[in-house]
Amino acid sequence: MKAIRVHKPGGPEVLILDEIPIPEPKAGEARVKIDAIGLNYVDIYQRTGLYPLPTPFTLGMEGAGVVDAVGDGVTEVKKGDRVAYSMVLGSYAEYAIVPAWKLAPLPANVDAHSAAALMLQGMTAHYLTHSTYALQPGQTALIHAAAGGVGLLLVQIAKNLDATVIGTVSTEAKAALAKEAGADHVILYTQTDFAAEVKKLTEGHGVHVVYDSVGQSTFAKSLDCLRPRGYLALFGQSGGPVAPFDPGILAAKGSLFLTRPSLNHYTLDRAELLQRAADLFAWTASGKLKLRIEKTFPMSEAAEAQRQMEARKTTGKVLLIP
Ligand SMILES: NC(=O)c1ccc[n+]([C@@H]2O[C@H](COP(=O)([O-])OP(=O)(O)OC[C@H]3O[C@@H](n4cnc5c(N)ncnc54)[C@H](OP(=O)(O)O)[C@@H]3O)[C@@H](O)[C@H]2O)c1
Repeated sequence: MKAIRVHKPGGPEVLILDEIPIPEPKAGEARVKIDAIGLNYVDIYQRTGLYPLPTPFTLGMEGAGVVDAVGDGVTEVKKGDRVAYSMVLGSYAEYAIVPAWKLAPLPANVDAHSAAALMLQGMTAHYLTHSTYALQPGQTALIHAAAGGVGLLLVQIAKNLDATVIGTVSTEAKAALAKEAGADHVILYTQTDFAAEVKKLTEGHGVHVVYDSVGQSTFAKSLDCLRPRGYLALFGQSGGPVAPFDPGILAAKGSLFLTRPSLNHYTLDRAELLQRAADLFAWTASGKLKLRIEKTFPMSEAAEAQRQMEARKTTGKVLLIP
Protein backbone atom coordinates (compact mmCIF):
# COMPACT_ATOMS: atom_id res chain seq x y z
CA MET A 1 0.00 0.00 0.00
CA LYS A 2 1.00 3.64 -0.29
CA ALA A 3 1.90 5.53 2.89
CA ILE A 4 3.50 8.87 3.70
CA ARG A 5 6.47 8.14 5.95
CA VAL A 6 9.12 10.14 7.79
CA HIS A 7 12.61 8.61 7.71
CA LYS A 8 14.26 11.54 9.49
CA PRO A 9 12.75 14.63 11.13
CA GLY A 10 12.76 17.86 9.14
CA GLY A 11 10.79 20.18 6.86
CA PRO A 12 7.86 19.14 4.63
CA GLU A 13 10.37 17.66 2.15
CA VAL A 14 11.00 14.69 4.50
CA LEU A 15 7.49 13.38 3.79
CA ILE A 16 8.10 10.43 1.46
CA LEU A 17 5.43 8.49 -0.42
CA ASP A 18 6.56 4.90 0.25
CA GLU A 19 5.19 1.53 -0.89
CA ILE A 20 4.92 -0.76 2.18
CA PRO A 21 3.10 -4.05 2.97
CA ILE A 22 -0.56 -3.86 4.05
CA PRO A 23 -0.39 -4.36 7.85
CA GLU A 24 -2.20 -7.20 9.66
CA PRO A 25 -4.33 -6.53 12.76
CA LYS A 26 -3.27 -8.27 16.00
CA ALA A 27 -5.55 -9.21 18.89
CA GLY A 28 -7.77 -6.29 19.87
CA GLU A 29 -6.98 -4.37 16.68
CA ALA A 30 -8.86 -3.59 13.48
CA ARG A 31 -7.60 -2.68 10.03
CA VAL A 32 -9.32 0.35 8.49
CA LYS A 33 -9.33 1.07 4.77
CA ILE A 34 -8.92 4.82 4.91
CA ASP A 35 -11.29 7.09 2.92
CA ALA A 36 -10.26 10.44 4.43
CA ILE A 37 -7.30 11.55 6.55
CA GLY A 38 -7.48 14.51 8.92
CA LEU A 39 -4.52 16.90 8.87
CA ASN A 40 -3.64 18.25 12.31
CA TYR A 41 -0.99 20.54 13.72
CA VAL A 42 0.39 17.63 15.75
CA ASP A 43 1.49 16.08 12.42
CA ILE A 44 3.89 19.01 12.05
CA TYR A 45 5.30 18.61 15.60
CA GLN A 46 5.90 14.93 14.82
CA ARG A 47 7.46 15.60 11.41
CA THR A 48 9.86 18.25 12.78
CA GLY A 49 10.86 16.14 15.79
CA LEU A 50 9.35 18.54 18.37
CA TYR A 51 7.46 15.41 19.44
CA PRO A 52 10.19 12.78 18.75
CA LEU A 53 9.20 9.37 17.34
CA PRO A 54 11.32 6.37 16.29
CA THR A 55 11.86 6.44 12.49
CA PRO A 56 10.70 5.44 9.99
CA PHE A 57 7.07 6.07 10.89
CA THR A 58 3.84 6.64 8.99
CA LEU A 59 2.48 10.06 9.90
CA GLY A 60 -1.15 10.92 10.70
CA MET A 61 -3.31 10.82 13.83
CA GLU A 62 -6.84 10.85 12.40
CA GLY A 63 -8.82 8.97 9.80
CA ALA A 64 -12.20 7.70 8.67
CA GLY A 65 -13.01 4.68 6.52
CA VAL A 66 -14.30 1.12 6.56
CA VAL A 67 -13.21 -1.80 8.76
CA ASP A 68 -11.55 -4.27 6.45
CA ALA A 69 -10.26 -6.93 8.89
CA VAL A 70 -10.25 -7.52 12.64
CA GLY A 71 -7.83 -9.33 14.96
CA ASP A 72 -8.69 -11.93 17.62
CA GLY A 73 -11.13 -10.94 20.32
CA VAL A 74 -12.49 -7.80 18.67
CA THR A 75 -16.11 -7.18 19.66
CA GLU A 76 -16.45 -3.40 19.19
CA VAL A 77 -16.56 -3.40 15.36
CA LYS A 78 -16.83 -5.85 12.45
CA LYS A 79 -15.74 -5.99 8.83
CA GLY A 80 -17.72 -3.50 6.73
CA ASP A 81 -18.44 -1.01 9.55
CA ARG A 82 -17.94 2.67 8.71
CA VAL A 83 -15.71 4.15 11.43
CA ALA A 84 -13.53 7.09 12.42
CA TYR A 85 -10.75 7.54 14.98
CA SER A 86 -8.00 9.80 16.24
CA MET A 87 -4.84 9.71 18.38
CA VAL A 88 -3.39 6.59 16.75
CA LEU A 89 -0.32 7.11 14.59
CA GLY A 90 -0.34 5.99 10.94
CA SER A 91 -3.36 7.44 9.11
CA TYR A 92 -1.43 8.91 6.13
CA ALA A 93 -1.87 5.56 4.36
CA GLU A 94 -4.31 3.43 2.43
CA TYR A 95 -4.83 1.15 5.45
CA ALA A 96 -4.26 1.75 9.18
CA ILE A 97 -4.17 -0.51 12.21
CA VAL A 98 -6.22 0.87 15.12
CA PRO A 99 -7.04 -0.54 18.58
CA ALA A 100 -10.70 -1.53 18.10
CA TRP A 101 -11.86 0.32 21.24
CA LYS A 102 -10.76 3.60 19.68
CA LEU A 103 -13.03 3.26 16.64
CA ALA A 104 -16.28 5.23 16.64
CA PRO A 105 -18.94 3.69 14.36
CA LEU A 106 -20.42 6.37 12.07
CA PRO A 107 -24.15 7.11 12.04
CA ALA A 108 -25.74 6.90 8.56
CA ASN A 109 -25.98 10.70 8.32
CA VAL A 110 -22.25 11.35 8.92
CA ASP A 111 -19.98 10.88 5.89
CA ALA A 112 -16.30 9.93 6.04
CA HIS A 113 -15.05 13.43 5.22
CA SER A 114 -17.06 15.02 8.03
CA ALA A 115 -15.97 12.31 10.45
CA ALA A 116 -12.30 12.79 9.58
CA ALA A 117 -12.81 16.49 10.23
CA LEU A 118 -14.38 15.92 13.65
CA MET A 119 -12.55 13.21 15.52
CA LEU A 120 -9.41 15.03 16.66
CA GLN A 121 -10.19 18.74 16.50
CA GLY A 122 -13.87 18.28 17.41
CA MET A 123 -13.21 16.03 20.38
CA THR A 124 -10.56 18.51 21.52
CA ALA A 125 -13.01 21.41 21.36
CA HIS A 126 -15.52 19.19 23.21
CA TYR A 127 -13.28 18.27 26.13
CA LEU A 128 -11.85 21.79 26.49
CA THR A 129 -15.32 23.35 26.85
CA HIS A 130 -17.06 20.51 28.72
CA SER A 131 -14.36 18.96 30.92
CA THR A 132 -11.10 20.94 31.17
CA TYR A 133 -13.00 24.13 31.94
CA ALA A 134 -16.74 23.51 31.77
CA LEU A 135 -18.01 26.80 30.36
CA GLN A 136 -21.15 28.18 31.96
CA PRO A 137 -23.74 30.46 30.32
CA GLY A 138 -22.72 34.11 30.64
CA GLN A 139 -19.02 33.39 31.16
CA THR A 140 -16.40 34.84 28.82
CA ALA A 141 -13.78 32.79 26.96
CA LEU A 142 -10.75 33.96 24.98
CA ILE A 143 -9.97 31.61 22.08
CA HIS A 144 -6.69 32.04 20.20
CA ALA A 145 -6.33 31.07 16.51
CA ALA A 146 -10.12 31.22 16.34
CA ALA A 147 -10.32 30.52 12.59
CA GLY A 148 -8.16 27.37 12.76
CA GLY A 149 -9.31 23.76 12.79
CA VAL A 150 -9.88 23.54 16.53
CA GLY A 151 -10.60 27.27 16.70
CA LEU A 152 -13.75 27.39 14.55
CA LEU A 153 -15.20 24.39 16.41
CA LEU A 154 -14.31 25.84 19.84
CA VAL A 155 -16.01 29.14 18.98
CA GLN A 156 -19.22 27.40 17.91
CA ILE A 157 -19.35 25.03 20.88
CA ALA A 158 -18.65 27.87 23.34
CA LYS A 159 -21.46 29.91 21.77
CA ASN A 160 -23.81 26.92 21.96
CA LEU A 161 -23.04 26.94 25.71
CA ASP A 162 -24.15 30.62 25.82
CA ALA A 163 -20.70 31.96 26.64
CA THR A 164 -19.34 35.25 25.35
CA VAL A 165 -16.47 34.55 22.96
CA ILE A 166 -13.47 36.73 22.17
CA GLY A 167 -11.38 35.27 19.35
CA THR A 168 -7.91 36.16 18.10
CA VAL A 169 -6.72 35.69 14.51
CA SER A 170 -3.95 37.00 12.24
CA THR A 171 -5.92 38.40 9.28
CA GLU A 172 -9.16 40.18 8.39
CA ALA A 173 -10.27 37.18 6.31
CA LYS A 174 -9.83 34.91 9.35
CA ALA A 175 -11.65 37.49 11.51
CA ALA A 176 -14.66 37.24 9.19
CA LEU A 177 -14.68 33.44 9.57
CA ALA A 178 -14.45 33.62 13.38
CA LYS A 179 -17.37 36.10 13.44
CA GLU A 180 -19.40 33.87 11.12
CA ALA A 181 -18.78 31.02 13.58
CA GLY A 182 -20.31 33.19 16.29
CA ALA A 183 -17.44 35.03 18.00
CA ASP A 184 -18.76 38.16 19.73
CA HIS A 185 -15.46 40.03 19.35
CA VAL A 186 -12.40 39.30 17.22
CA ILE A 187 -8.93 40.76 17.78
CA LEU A 188 -6.12 40.80 15.21
CA TYR A 189 -3.42 39.69 17.66
CA THR A 190 -0.68 40.27 15.09
CA GLN A 191 -1.53 44.00 15.04
CA THR A 192 -3.10 44.78 18.41
CA ASP A 193 -2.13 44.20 22.05
CA PHE A 194 -4.74 41.52 22.69
CA ALA A 195 -4.42 41.69 26.50
CA ALA A 196 -5.21 45.42 26.52
CA GLU A 197 -8.12 44.82 24.15
CA VAL A 198 -9.52 41.99 26.31
CA LYS A 199 -9.32 44.20 29.41
CA LYS A 200 -11.31 46.87 27.53
CA LEU A 201 -13.92 44.41 26.26
CA THR A 202 -14.42 42.94 29.75
CA GLU A 203 -14.45 46.35 31.49
CA GLY A 204 -11.24 45.52 33.32
CA HIS A 205 -12.50 42.20 34.75
CA GLY A 206 -10.73 39.75 32.44
CA VAL A 207 -12.06 36.46 31.07
CA HIS A 208 -12.96 33.27 32.93
CA VAL A 209 -10.90 31.04 30.65
CA VAL A 210 -8.31 31.30 27.91
CA TYR A 211 -8.02 28.43 25.43
CA ASP A 212 -4.46 28.96 24.16
CA SER A 213 -3.01 26.71 21.44
CA VAL A 214 -0.38 29.16 20.21
CA GLY A 215 2.03 29.04 23.16
CA GLN A 216 5.25 31.01 23.12
CA SER A 217 3.94 34.23 21.55
CA THR A 218 0.67 34.38 23.53
CA PHE A 219 1.31 32.64 26.87
CA ALA A 220 2.37 35.60 29.08
CA LYS A 221 -0.38 37.87 27.80
CA SER A 222 -2.96 35.09 28.05
CA LEU A 223 -2.28 35.06 31.81
CA ASP A 224 -2.84 38.84 31.82
CA CYS A 225 -6.29 38.37 30.25
CA LEU A 226 -7.65 36.28 33.13
CA ARG A 227 -9.78 37.42 36.04
CA PRO A 228 -8.66 36.30 39.53
CA ARG A 229 -8.83 32.49 39.80
CA GLY A 230 -9.21 32.32 36.01
CA TYR A 231 -8.19 29.27 34.04
CA LEU A 232 -5.57 28.96 31.30
CA ALA A 233 -5.92 25.82 29.18
CA LEU A 234 -2.65 25.76 27.22
CA PHE A 235 -3.38 23.02 24.71
CA GLY A 236 -0.83 23.55 21.94
CA GLN A 237 2.17 25.47 20.65
CA SER A 238 1.72 26.40 17.00
CA GLY A 239 3.77 29.53 17.80
CA GLY A 240 6.52 27.55 19.60
CA PRO A 241 6.86 25.89 23.01
CA VAL A 242 6.46 27.95 26.19
CA ALA A 243 9.71 28.48 28.14
CA PRO A 244 9.97 27.21 31.74
CA PHE A 245 8.52 29.74 34.19
CA ASP A 246 8.15 30.44 37.92
CA PRO A 247 4.76 29.19 39.24
CA GLY A 248 4.80 32.22 41.58
CA ILE A 249 3.61 34.17 38.53
CA LEU A 250 0.25 32.40 38.85
CA ALA A 251 -0.16 33.84 42.37
CA ALA A 252 1.01 37.30 41.36
CA LYS A 253 -1.46 37.46 38.47
CA GLY A 254 -4.51 36.38 40.49
CA SER A 255 -4.23 32.84 41.91
CA LEU A 256 -4.63 31.48 38.40
CA PHE A 257 -5.02 27.87 37.26
CA LEU A 258 -2.87 26.47 34.46
CA THR A 259 -3.32 23.12 32.75
CA ARG A 260 -1.64 21.54 29.72
CA PRO A 261 -4.26 19.03 28.59
CA SER A 262 -4.08 16.33 25.91
CA LEU A 263 -6.97 14.58 24.14
CA ASN A 264 -5.58 11.18 25.20
CA HIS A 265 -6.43 11.93 28.83
CA TYR A 266 -9.98 13.04 27.94
CA THR A 267 -10.79 9.86 25.98
CA LEU A 268 -9.54 7.48 28.64
CA ASP A 269 -11.94 4.67 27.81
CA ARG A 270 -14.42 3.69 25.11
CA ALA A 271 -17.41 5.10 26.99
CA GLU A 272 -15.83 8.57 27.25
CA LEU A 273 -14.70 8.49 23.63
CA LEU A 274 -18.11 7.42 22.28
CA GLN A 275 -19.95 9.97 24.41
CA ARG A 276 -17.88 12.85 22.98
CA ALA A 277 -18.16 11.46 19.44
CA ALA A 278 -21.95 11.03 19.79
CA ASP A 279 -22.36 14.68 20.81
CA LEU A 280 -20.26 15.84 17.85
CA PHE A 281 -22.11 13.64 15.34
CA ALA A 282 -25.49 14.82 16.67
CA TRP A 283 -24.51 18.51 16.62
CA THR A 284 -23.19 18.18 13.06
CA ALA A 285 -26.29 16.35 11.84
CA SER A 286 -28.61 18.94 13.44
CA GLY A 287 -26.61 21.90 12.10
CA LYS A 288 -25.61 23.12 15.59
CA LEU A 289 -21.99 22.58 14.55
CA LYS A 290 -20.90 23.52 11.05
CA LEU A 291 -17.75 22.03 9.58
CA ARG A 292 -15.51 24.06 7.35
CA ILE A 293 -13.55 21.61 5.23
CA GLU A 294 -11.51 24.26 3.51
CA LYS A 295 -9.08 22.21 1.49
CA THR A 296 -8.76 18.62 0.33
CA PHE A 297 -5.44 17.36 -1.05
CA PRO A 298 -4.46 13.99 -2.53
CA MET A 299 -2.35 12.17 0.09
CA SER A 300 0.66 12.40 -2.26
CA GLU A 301 0.54 16.19 -1.72
CA ALA A 302 0.79 15.95 2.08
CA ALA A 303 3.96 18.08 2.06
CA GLU A 304 2.16 20.96 0.35
CA ALA A 305 -0.80 20.66 2.73
CA GLN A 306 1.56 20.85 5.73
CA ARG A 307 3.47 23.77 4.19
CA GLN A 308 0.23 25.73 3.98
CA MET A 309 -0.81 24.88 7.53
CA GLU A 310 2.60 25.87 8.93
CA ALA A 311 2.48 29.14 6.97
CA ARG A 312 -0.91 29.98 8.60
CA LYS A 313 -2.58 29.78 5.19
CA THR A 314 -5.28 27.28 6.21
CA THR A 315 -8.57 27.79 8.03
CA GLY A 316 -10.92 25.15 9.39
CA LYS A 317 -10.12 21.58 8.39
CA VAL A 318 -7.71 20.21 5.81
CA LEU A 319 -8.18 16.64 4.57
CA LEU A 320 -5.90 14.29 2.65
CA ILE A 321 -7.38 11.60 0.41
CA PRO A 322 -5.39 8.36 -0.06
N1 LIG B 1 -3.82 19.24 23.41
C1 LIG B 1 -4.68 18.70 22.58
O1 LIG B 1 -5.43 17.79 22.97
C2 LIG B 1 -4.77 19.21 21.18
C3 LIG B 1 -5.58 18.56 20.24
C4 LIG B 1 -5.71 19.13 18.97
C5 LIG B 1 -5.00 20.27 18.64
N2 LIG B 1 -4.18 20.83 19.57
C6 LIG B 1 -3.45 22.06 19.26
O2 LIG B 1 -4.36 23.05 18.81
C7 LIG B 1 -3.70 23.91 17.91
C8 LIG B 1 -4.52 24.05 16.66
O3 LIG B 1 -4.43 22.84 15.92
P1 LIG B 1 -5.12 22.74 14.51
O4 LIG B 1 -4.77 21.41 13.99
O5 LIG B 1 -6.54 23.12 14.64
O6 LIG B 1 -4.32 23.84 13.66
P2 LIG B 1 -4.83 25.26 13.16
O7 LIG B 1 -5.40 26.04 14.31
O8 LIG B 1 -5.73 25.05 12.00
O9 LIG B 1 -3.49 25.95 12.66
C9 LIG B 1 -2.64 26.62 13.54
C10 LIG B 1 -2.98 28.11 13.68
O10 LIG B 1 -2.16 28.64 14.72
C11 LIG B 1 -2.01 30.01 14.51
N3 LIG B 1 -0.61 30.41 14.73
C12 LIG B 1 -0.19 31.37 15.59
N4 LIG B 1 1.12 31.53 15.54
C13 LIG B 1 1.58 30.65 14.61
C14 LIG B 1 2.87 30.36 14.08
N5 LIG B 1 3.97 30.99 14.52
N6 LIG B 1 2.98 29.40 13.14
C15 LIG B 1 1.90 28.75 12.69
N7 LIG B 1 0.65 28.99 13.15
C16 LIG B 1 0.48 29.93 14.10
C17 LIG B 1 -2.45 30.31 13.06
O11 LIG B 1 -3.67 31.02 13.12
P3 LIG B 1 -3.60 32.64 12.94
O12 LIG B 1 -3.04 32.85 11.57
O13 LIG B 1 -4.99 33.13 13.08
O14 LIG B 1 -2.67 33.12 14.01
C18 LIG B 1 -2.63 28.93 12.46
O15 LIG B 1 -3.61 28.94 11.46
C19 LIG B 1 -2.30 23.36 17.72
O16 LIG B 1 -1.44 24.04 18.61
C20 LIG B 1 -2.44 21.92 18.16
O17 LIG B 1 -1.25 21.37 18.60
C21 LIG B 1 -4.05 20.32 20.81
